[in-house]
Amino acid sequence: MNKEVKYSCPSNIALVKYWGKKESGTQLPANPSISWTLNDLRATTRMVVSPVVNGESPTVKFYLANIEKPSFLPKIETFLKRVTPELGWISEHHFEIYSENNFPHGAGIASSAAGFGALASCLVALDGQWEESDPVFWEKASKFARLGSGSACRSVYNEPGLWGEFEEVLESTDDFAIPYSGSIHPNLQGWKDAVLIIEDGEKSVSSTAGHALLKEHAYAEARYKQAHKSLSALLSSFKTGDVQQFIEIVESEALQLHAMMMSSIPYYVLMKPNTLEAIEKIWKHRNETLIPMCFTLDAGANVHLLYDGSYHEQIQNFINTELLPYCQNGLYLCSDTGGKPTKL
Ligand code: DP6
Repeated sequence: MNKEVKYSCPSNIALVKYWGKKESGTQLPANPSISWTLNDLRATTRMVVSPVVNGESPTVKFYLANIEKPSFLPKIETFLKRVTPELGWISEHHFEIYSENNFPHGAGIASSAAGFGALASCLVALDGQWEESDPVFWEKASKFARLGSGSACRSVYNEPGLWGEFEEVLESTDDFAIPYSGSIHPNLQGWKDAVLIIEDGEKSVSSTAGHALLKEHAYAEARYKQAHKSLSALLSSFKTGDVQQFIEIVESEALQLHAMMMSSIPYYVLMKPNTLEAIEKIWKHRNETLIPMCFTLDAGANVHLLYDGSYHEQIQNFINTELLPYCQNGLYLCSDTGGKPTKL
């Protein structure tokens, strides 16, 4: 009998970055990271499974925005293979997967995070062992999402998703992300993200290839240590509401991520001239207005402008008058932070 389920899952933006894996192939992070989900930037995925009969080989079909995309199959088949030891029924079913994003694919917005978060939520729901009200449902969704794409494991919680062993949070683990349960000062609640689309297109170097370059990277160990320090300071800013400290960590993390790319062998640069122009404008505007705001970057050219949501109108104005010239086709995407997968 066919079974189907549909979930939407938000993307996320890391405040402290995951960059480097423990051993290639394991999908375990070399350092802990933390992110906010982006409630308005979502992947919606319908998964249809039907039992394999008469010795057929199981098949997988994947559709993005209703167009069949065989090019996505290697990643999805690897993902299903990695989850199969826990959900044995996967190997006895055909899969049809219909996915769509409400944002451009491959533009440095973590479309794989939202995509694998949605796929993983579908698998846990189809499996049926746990109810959504059981925290294990989300631990499993997070773990399975990780097996698809590391950063995806942080997309399944309303609270900031903390992934990777971190000495100050006993429950933290490399296996799956956990919802950050400490207090968050009102100064750092209700922030929004405006994603300035500097370049809408596939990145020249994928994140997976970028992570692999950390293996032989001269600065890898120093970077991993620094990520622990950043996370410690970030959690302290969450508690105290020290926005200055928060901004310094988030911007430094973004620049460290790109510095690691620029100092790998082979080296590469994903920022574009307009990335830097936008960053300069953000700094200038912050100095002039003292609005709590900062930038961060993913593994791409786009600039995420994070800001205190109570300044939404002023920031919209700022973007429209000063930042749009740097956005490809004048495109930017706005989202609340927070939000988790929802069953549709
Ligand atoms: C730069 O999660 O895309 O966005 O595990 O190989 O799929 P894989 O990599 P991915 O890495 C993205 C890392 C980052 C920073 C972050 O989200 O922490």
